[in-house]
Amino acid sequence: MTARRLGAASLESLLGEWRNGGAANEDLADRLRLLMVDGRIPVGTRLPAERELAARLSVSRTTVASTYGRLRSAGYLASQQGSGSEARLPQHPFGRPAAGMEAPDTIDLTKAAMPCAPQVAPAVLRAAEQLPLFAADWDYDAVGLPHLRQAIADRYTAQGLPTEPDEILVTIGAQHAIGLLARVLVSRGDRVVIEAPTYPHAQRAFIEAGARLVPVSVTADGGWDAEALQHAFERTNPQLAYLMPDFHNPTGASMSAAERDRMLRAAARQGTTVLVDETTAELDIDRDGVDSRFVPVSAGDTGATVVNVGSIGKTVWGGLRIGWIRADRSLVARLVAARSSLDLGTPILEQLAVAELMPELDEIIAARRVQLRRSRDRVEELLAGRFPTWQVPHVAGGLAVWVGLGQPVSSALTLTARTSGLVMAAGPWFGSDGAFERFLRVPITYPVDTLERAVERLHAAWLAVGGARRPVMPSASTLV
Ligand SMILES: Cc1ncc(COP(=O)(O)O)c(C=O)c1O
Repeated sequence: MTARRLGAASLESLLGEWRNGGAANEDLADRLRLLMVDGRIPVGTRLPAERELAARLSVSRTTVASTYGRLRSAGYLASQQGSGSEARLPQHPFGRPAAGMEAPDTIDLTKAAMPCAPQVAPAVLRAAEQLPLFAADWDYDAVGLPHLRQAIADRYTAQGLPTEPDEILVTIGAQHAIGLLARVLVSRGDRVVIEAPTYPHAQRAFIEAGARLVPVSVTADGGWDAEALQHAFERTNPQLAYLMPDFHNPTGASMSAAERDRMLRAAARQGTTVLVDETTAELDIDRDGVDSRFVPVSAGDTGATVVNVGSIGKTVWGGLRIGWIRADRSLVARLVAARSSLDLGTPILEQLAVAELMPELDEIIAARRVQLRRSRDRVEELLAGRFPTWQVPHVAGGLAVWVGLGQPVSSALTLTARTSGLVMAAGPWFGSDGAFERFLRVPITYPVDTLERAVERLHAAWLAVGGARRPVMPSASTLV
C-alpha cells in the first residue's frame, strides 16, 4: 500500500495557529503530535520534506529538522529510507496505541457516547437462546433479519414516516451505513454538502469517496446558515448533502420545520440526495416547542430524495454494532450489492439482541433523557463556575455542548490536558483545514462525577496554557 502524502500547503492548513508562545520546534512538534494522536494526520501519512515545510511555514530548516527529531525519538515519526518521514503512534505494551502521555487514571472524553444500557445483557442472553432457530438459515446476512427490519420499519411508521421492511437495510452501525452510502452515491469529484462543524468520521468517508466538500456553517445558538445552505445547493449542484437536522453533532442545534422544508425543496430542485443522520436525533432532553416528539425527516411533498440513517449506538450502546439505512428499494438493492468488498454481513447474534431490545427502546431512551439532563445541567454549572469567559450554549438534547473558548487555543488546551490525565477532541477535529480552534466539544454523556473530575483537569490545563490571562475575542458563536 502506498502511504498517503501530505503536502506542505495541506499540512499548513491542518496546523492552523500552531505557535503557542514556546520555542518554535517544541510548539510545532506539539501540534503535529496532537494531529497524529487525534487522527487528523492518520498513521502512515508521509509528512512533507523538511526543506519544503520550512519554506511553507517561514521557519528555518533546522527548526523543522529538530521538530521531526523530537517526534522521531518520541515514537511519532518513522523515517523510511528514500521516502521521508511517516506518522506513527507509539505502541502501548498491550498493543493499543498510547495516544499521548496519559496517566493510568486518564479520563477519555473523546467519545460522546453513553455507557451500556442495563437492558443489553439480558437481551443478549435471550438472543443466544434463539440462535439455534436461526443458525440453519442465516449466516452471512447482508440485508438484515426479517423481524429486525420489520421492527425498525414499524418504528419509523409509528414515528410518522410510513415504512416497509424492504426499505430498511441493517448495517454494522451508522458509520458503516454512511461509508456504504458514500461509496455507492458519491463518485470522485462530486460535491457533497456537509455541515461545519460536522461529525468527523462521516466527513472522512466522503473525502475517501473522492468528494469535494461544500461546508455550510452551523452554530450552537444560531443553527444553520440558511442562506449559505440554499446557495450551496444552487451554486454547486451537489450530489449529496449529509445533514444532522436533530441535535446536530457537535453543536446540539436542531433545524426548525420551516428550515427543513426549505432545505428539502432546495435539494429537490438540484436533484441532490439528502442523507439525514439521525443517530443522535432521539436524545431529546427538553426541546422547546409544541411537540418535542421525534419525527424522522421525510420528503413529504417537496419531491426530495431522502435517505435516513439510524443506529442504536447512541441510545442503547455503541458496543452493539447495529445501525440501519432507510431508503427506497432500488437503493437498498444497490447498497447490498456494494457491500461484499467491505463486509459480508451484519452479525446475527447482535441483530437478534437488537430485535429483543426494540420493544424496550422508548423506555431506554426515557432513562437516557434523565441521565443526559443531569449531566448537561452539571456541565453548564461547572463550566460557568470555572470558565466565566467561555461561551457555553444551552443545548436541549444531543451528546455535547460546543463551547466557545474566546481564543484560538483548542489544540493547545487539549494537548496540555492530556498531560493532566484528560483526553478531549480539539475543535478542529470537527472541521477541516484547522478551523474551529476557538471551540471545544464537551460531552454530556458521562456520569456527573467523571465530568466534575474532568472539568478540574481542564481548568488546570486552561491555566497552564495561559487561557485565563489572554484577551477574550469577540462572540465565539460568530467565529469559525
Ligand atoms: C452523528 C453520528 N453519526 C454516526 C455515528 C456512528 O454511529 P455508530 O456507532 O452507530 O456507527 C456517530 C457516533 O459517534 C455520530 O455521532
